[in-house]
Order: sequence, then C-alpha cells, then structure tokens
Amino acid sequence: MLSRILLASRNPGKLREFAGLLPDYALTAWPAEAPEIPEDGAFFRDNAGQKAAFAREWWRHHGTAPVDFVLADDSGLCVDALWGGPGVLSARFAKRLANGDTNRALLALLPLSAPRSARFVCVLALAPMEGGAPKFFEASVEGRLAEAPKGTRGFGYDPIFIPEGGQETFGELGDEVKARLSHRAQAARALRNCLAQRRAGCQPGPEPAR
Ligand code: IMP
Repeated sequence: MLSRILLASRNPGKLREFAGLLPDYALTAWPAEAPEIPEDGAFFRDNAGQKAAFAREWWRHHGTAPVDFVLADDSGLCVDALWGGPGVLSARFAKRLANGDTNRALLALLPLSAPRSARFVCVLALAPMEGGAPKFFEASVEGRLAEAPKGTRGFGYDPIFIPEGGQETFGELGDEVKARLSHRAQAARALRNCLAQRRAGCQPGPEPAR
C-alpha cells in the first residue's frame, strides 16, 4: 500500500510541486476547515518542525482519514544584499509588507549597484503519525535576482529568481526544471531516499519532551 502523507500546507504552489515530486505517495492537503498552522520561529528548521508538530496533533484529534506521516515545508528566498531577507519571513513579507506586487516590491529594496546573489532554501520536516521526533531534510539552490519579474509559471518569488548558470527565471522555466534543481526538489529527493530505506535509518526518534 502507498504510504499516506498529510501535507501541512495550503499553498497551492507547494501542493502542486509535491504532487510531482512525491508521485509514489498518497498525499492529503491541509483541509480548508482546519486552523491556520502557526509559524513564528526564527529559523526555517524551527518553523518546519513547529508546523509538522501542530498539524500532527490537530490531525490526531480531527483527522478524517488515517495517514502515516505529516510533512511540513518551510522555505523562502534569501537575498545577500538584504542581509539574507526576506528569508524565514518570505511568506509574511508577501502577505503584509509588499502591498500588492511582492516581486517588484522586493526588487525595489535593492540598491542599484548591490550584488544580486540569492538562494532559495527549503527545510522539510517529516513526522511519523505514530509519534517521535520529525526528520529534517534541508536544501538550497543558488542564483541571482532578475532585473524585473519574468514568466508566469511557478509561484511566489519564481519570476524574479534566476538559478545559477542560467538566464531565465523559475517563472519562465516552470515545474519541469524546478523538479530537477529547486530547493524543494532536492529536499524531497533526500526524503524519498530516506523513506525508501526506512529500515536502514529513517526511523522516528524519541518524541521530544514538552
Ligand atoms: P512558508 O514556507 O509558508 O513560510 O512560505 C514560504 C514563502 O516563500 C512562500 O509563500 C513563497 O512566497 C516563498 N517561496 C518558497 N518556496 C518558493 C518557491 O519554490 N518559489 C517561489 N517562492 C517560494
């Protein structure tokens, strides 16, 4: 039987990508009637762990179908000239600070001659439903910021991110290329490998003390 994974996210861009990245698993999205999942940590890893723990606890009491794992993704765009921001605040920057066109708002923060180097970072937390500490999978993809948003594919900051060695943004390149080299794709590959060798080490650890 396929392993069943609850995705602790309602972000349609992430959900679409996970459907392509984890084709051998039965995925359930975080339901519309469920509460907002909190994320107030200072680091991607804190947030991924917090989301997985919250979603697992909620699902234990309210879940409508059995699942084997809960998977949480915390990710964002880290821009060197912005001291690594918006980084862990990427979603909050988009929601509250950008006032409309997030990508143009972010580009406007860069001084003209500033270096344009940036990276996407993703931390996945996989928590076994039966209990135990989550396993973390972290990856990043290096690149640079475009002069202006380009492309309508992907989601979020994809139209302003050009992966290293290329000329086109993720917004132009789309899901096929992201599925090879994105931060999320690399982390999901590590997760898949771990699950495939589950008996050889991808076992739950002890549940952390509260
Ligand atoms: P969070 O992981 O819920 O904190 O949200 C991460 C935010 O970072 C998203 O809302 C996007 O704005 C951005 N982000 C994360 N991954 C990607 C990506 O693959 N492409 C574009 N934007 C991304």
